[in-house]
Amino acid sequence: MRTAVLVLLVACAAAQPTPSAKHEMFSQPEAYERFMGRWSRLVASQLIQLAEIHDGNTVLDVGSGTGALSFAIRDATKAGRIVGVDPSSAYVEFATKHADPLTHFEVGDGQDLHFASAAFDRTLALLVLNFIPDSERAAREMVRVTKPGGVVVAAVWDYGHGMEMLRVFWDEADAFDPTKESTDEAHMPLTHQGDLGALWTRVGLVDVEETPLVIEQHFASFDDYWSPFLLGAGPAGAYVGKLSKERQAALRERLRKRLLGDGPDHAIDLHARVWAVKGTVPSSQHAARE
Ligand SMILES: C[S@@+](CC[C@H](N)C(=O)[O-])C[C@H]1O[C@@H](n2cnc3c(N)ncnc32)[C@H](O)[C@@H]1O
Repeated sequence: MRTAVLVLLVACAAAQPTPSAKHEMFSQPEAYERFMGRWSRLVASQLIQLAEIHDGNTVLDVGSGTGALSFAIRDATKAGRIVGVDPSSAYVEFATKHADPLTHFEVGDGQDLHFASAAFDRTLALLVLNFIPDSERAAREMVRVTKPGGVVVAAVWDYGHGMEMLRVFWDEADAFDPTKESTDEAHMPLTHQGDLGALWTRVGLVDVEETPLVIEQHFASFDDYWSPFLLGAGPAGAYVGKLSKERQAALRERLRKRLLGDGPDHAIDLHARVWAVKGTVPSSQHAARE
């Protein structure tokens, strides 16, 4: 019953005109949690290892969303302080409900961080940079707020073939609706091998390392795969929200056939890969800015 009410509320909200499509797709924290937060939490634990967070480190989580990465850092490390920043006030409010003296969330824009230079030991961004209009400016901001010798880390889904959950979805959506405006996330910047590594080098980071990280996605049933797409979260949810009920049902059937064939419902296991990048702030980076 609660799920039905949530679906209805989200569908109604999606039908209202909103200031921007981006705001709309990142305005429903519960929907995001069910659609993607459960998976970003799995990637978070691998990204934390890449960032090598030491005891007492101050950590910034850019585009912190509902708090998946910040809370994973809190639980897996002995970081001294963790700050999350995100432009979605609904997400910040949701994350703040779970905050504690170690974690703190603020509304803000990654392109214009309101923190002093060299304020953090580690700066991370999980599944965010492809959504930021000027991602290079955001990357430069991540470098600016990180101490010399500090580490800057980011990851973006590989929407090409590495993120099966969304690849399957967009392949079927494209085949079903070839004239649709291209919303396939594979067209987004920074989602292909080498993109993040090149950006990290361009913004002056050293010892740059790009690496794939893979998680397994276990869906208990076809409905566990499909129903989160109805919640309006992310570009795929926004696309489904614009379809009529009949067209949603037709797309659902295509996906069901693709994932289950003509057989009965069963659990579905898919792989999801991100491209992750790590770089170190050289001591000259800050000297050059002062
Ligand atoms: C796919 S979600 C990822 C959220 C979270 N990092 C996670 O992994 O669950 C993308 C996030 O980027 C945020 N975002 C969009 N534009 C941004 C900007 N200019 N600066 C910082 N974050 C931004 C959105 O509000 C959203 O929370």
